[in-house]
Amino acid sequence: MATSTPRISQKAASFTESVIRDMTRLAMQHDAINLAQGFPNFPAPREIKEAACRAIQADINQYAITWGAPRFRRAIAEKYKTFYNWEIDPERELTVACGSTECMIASMLALVNPGERVLVFEPFYENYGPDAILAGASTLYVSLDPERDWTFDFQELEQKIDESQAEGGVRAVILNTPNNPSGKVFSGEELSKIAELAQAYDFYVLTDEIYEHIIYQGSHHPIACLPGMRERTVTISGLSKTFSVTGWRVGYIVACPEVTDAIRKVHDFLTVGAAAPLQEAGADAMGMGQDYYRQLLSNYRERRDYLVGSLERAGFRVWTPSGAYYIMADISSLTELDDVQFVNRLIEKYGVAAVPGSSFYHRAESGKRFIRFAFCKTMEVLQQAGDRLQRLKG
Ligand SMILES: Cc1ncc(COP(=O)(O)O)c(C=O)c1O
Repeated sequence: MATSTPRISQKAASFTESVIRDMTRLAMQHDAINLAQGFPNFPAPREIKEAACRAIQADINQYAITWGAPRFRRAIAEKYKTFYNWEIDPERELTVACGSTECMIASMLALVNPGERVLVFEPFYENYGPDAILAGASTLYVSLDPERDWTFDFQELEQKIDESQAEGGVRAVILNTPNNPSGKVFSGEELSKIAELAQAYDFYVLTDEIYEHIIYQGSHHPIACLPGMRERTVTISGLSKTFSVTGWRVGYIVACPEVTDAIRKVHDFLTVGAAAPLQEAGADAMGMGQDYYRQLLSNYRERRDYLVGSLERAGFRVWTPSGAYYIMADISSLTELDDVQFVNRLIEKYGVAAVPGSSFYHRAESGKRFIRFAFCKTMEVLQQAGDRLQRLKG
């Protein structure tokens, strides 16, 4: 009798499991403090938890409209108006999906054809590589230079885009500001340059703005609001980071009506919709006042400053992030090990988990002197981790 060999698709075979979530598993195995994965270990705001419970009790427990509950979409549009003076039509320009994670893959599948190219700034959030593979796209990379405060070379960007013209050009640029893992906040000048190229070379910008409210230096400017960009930008954000509810899986996408129609179709067949009662709670979250955002930021600033100091005292070279809640640290003055070996040792011997830098680069070599720490944890946990890390000095 013929035996059958399990076979998996070429797409599934061409990427590995998430390194970040892998580190979380390893941390649990060794009872290490998990500064690897970016999820808060403190409670979500009471108001929105209560709103979610109320929605369940009120029997909002069936499918919402596939592209998002109307009350939530209206509240999102209102919030964009308040924060950025940006008028969005909640009926035609907004889609709610299962986290920014689904927002990005649904947008790529809706806009990028197999064989087309997407350009990614590196280091990058690890999902974008597999997203491109799942969409059948190939990737081009432009580096954010740590030695120049994570800026990129305008000429290099233009050259890469220009050179790819011979093969059909770049279909989309993936932007992430504030950036995970570097903490970079793209400047107005950088956004203008990208916008100028998007119009000259006719590509979309898919922008992941999930950390839009966690900015310590500079301010957030949605690239969609720059002249000529409304029709060619897909703006992605969500509840996970701003409201400390990463497990709710609620995100949203703003795009012009034609693009929204395509994204809504893909989203419908991927997941049908995000959790209905949590969208109701999302509507309440959108109404939280300025005090909430001020407090969020001041708490994160305190945690950032503490962990930056602690890592420096332990002997790391670090980049103080301008946004988001991660710190990139250079390990070269502490060890001869590479990033993966060093993180394993950190977990097993010192009881602190981080993420190897190579998981943010398309060539492992480029990230081997970095590791990334997340500081979305209580001060108590950060202090415990800080104490453990001081033992690295020997
Ligand atoms: C840049 C970036 N985008 C998206 C996500 C995931 O967001 P969500 O929980 O909305 O899917 C993360 C989570 O760490 C992230 O860092």
